[in-house]
Amino acid sequence: MTLKIADRGRVPPFLVMDVLRDASKREAAGASVLHMEIGQPSAGVPRAVANRLADALSQGVDPMGYTMAQGLPALCQRIAAHGERLYGCTIPQERVFCTMGSSAAFLIAFLAAFAPGDRVGLASPGYPAYRHILKAVGIEPVLLPVGPETRFQPTPAMLEGLNLDGLIVASPSNPTGSMLPPEALKALAEHCHEAGIRLISDEIYHGIGYGMTFATATAFSPSAVVINSFSKYYCMTGWRLGWMVLPEDMLRAAECLGQNLFISPPTISQHAAIAAFDELATFDALVAGYGRNRDLLVDGLAKLGIDKVAPPDGAFYVHADISHLGLDSADLCRRMLAETGVAVAPGWDFDPVRGGAAIRFSYCASETTVTQALARLADWLPRLG
Ligand SMILES: Cc1ncc(COP(=O)(O)O)c(C=O)c1O
Repeated sequence: MTLKIADRGRVPPFLVMDVLRDASKREAAGASVLHMEIGQPSAGVPRAVANRLADALSQGVDPMGYTMAQGLPALCQRIAAHGERLYGCTIPQERVFCTMGSSAAFLIAFLAAFAPGDRVGLASPGYPAYRHILKAVGIEPVLLPVGPETRFQPTPAMLEGLNLDGLIVASPSNPTGSMLPPEALKALAEHCHEAGIRLISDEIYHGIGYGMTFATATAFSPSAVVINSFSKYYCMTGWRLGWMVLPEDMLRAAECLGQNLFISPPTISQHAAIAAFDELATFDALVAGYGRNRDLLVDGLAKLGIDKVAPPDGAFYVHADISHLGLDSADLCRRMLAETGVAVAPGWDFDPVRGGAAIRFSYCASETTVTQALARLADWLPRLG
């Protein structure tokens, strides 16, 4: 007998992960691959963090059992204090809620804030998992096509007449790297609050910027949900730890959902995260390196004729228009990997309508990787027929 599979489980793949799988297969077979597809800092946690964790484990300080669903109070306190320093506004520790990566935070926030059938706006191009998680829980993603006119970010005017229950913004954005200036985030946050639209602000790339000021939605709206993570600035992708700064009215619902869905965020990772707050100088030095890679990549691509890129204000991505090359982005990425070993992400992941015309480079790799990738593309692009 054939059993049914629920429609809501049929979400599209996360194409970056498909490219990573194909690139890794080639690598395992002995090919030289330059990884610029995945948004994963090549540096791991600083040695000092690993040492402190090893000490704690060897001394049996904590048996690493469950924590409260919200996370360790010491961690929530460090997160709140760090936010206050970064943004100059109050972040109440009781409103910090730790999660299993920001990915789990999205699930908890969407379930707590929206009902099935609700409509949630999001920029396109944008991070694919927003759309796919929303769909999986029966919420309707409403794409807001964005472009260079608005720095690839949504504006209050774009929300008119859409009857939205929620809005997701990401600044810096993945895939574009573009940021909302503080006054633009303020305008969006205030508009959403007044219009009864729940704002979800993905601030996972905060700390990784090249001159523009970081602002948090918590400073501008009592109803906004802020989502953040230790994956990017703190280089802790595999540790699966993120957090939210929740509005008062969602605290209990988030706690009950967190208890039932995940019990608690990973305890060992929470200890590592507390130690990571003492290593900010190391992370800032890495960001300076990403900044050098960004300049190298943007200049190098421009010399190769790929000069229509979104403003790379932050994060570690360059989102480039490739329509002049005459190939769909999926074909271009496939051929680029097969013929040069350079792995990049097709725009289809981020924009289901216009994704054929763009690709995304991730430059949190080493400077050597970026230099070598540009050299391989310089040799290959003129032969692309
Ligand atoms: C914009 C954005 N949000 C969220 C995530 C998910 O990160 P994590 O679950 O590791 O915290 C990513 C990962 O690339 C991302 O780019």
